[in-house]
Amino acid sequence: MTILSIITAPDRRLKVKSRPVEAVDDKVRKILDDMLETMYQAPGIGLSAVQIGIPKCLITIDVSRDDEVNAPLYLINPDIVEYSEELASYNEGCLSLPEQFADLDRPGAITVEFLDYHGQQRQLHAEGLLSRCIQHEMDHLKGRLFVDRLSAVKRGMILRKLDKAKRQKVTA
Ligand code: NI
Repeated sequence: MTILSIITAPDRRLKVKSRPVEAVDDKVRKILDDMLETMYQAPGIGLSAVQIGIPKCLITIDVSRDDEVNAPLYLINPDIVEYSEELASYNEGCLSLPEQFADLDRPGAITVEFLDYHGQQRQLHAEGLLSRCIQHEMDHLKGRLFVDRLSAVKRGMILRKLDKAKRQKVTA
């Protein structure tokens, strides 16, 4: 497995809309394996393929706690078919927005349909952190970051901070 580098904002590649995968084959599974490894190493609880520069509808997630065994979840071509009416607030972060967090409301529960690692059609009802993580990753597939759901002022503040950090890294 290969650890890949995660693209950080601001970067045009994060705004690309991802395309559905046509067949779940070994090539797709290799990308998923690398994504999972990259996500664990970061460390993070969710990663979309577009964050490693592959604009395909592929997501890896693992919301198990550190003291639990790993519980990787692979979502291929996911589609949310139901959202709960009640919203939940959560202090959200993103591997593409290092060290940036913001409180964000999203539907508390969802039902998502997707293909699994073996190409089998699945349906999952998710609540809490898992529901949050799936919605966040699916935003990535649409070319959206969580900061795009904040006010322009808050978004600008975060992106300027990251831009500055990036330029310091280049000149350091
Ligand atoms: Ni993210």
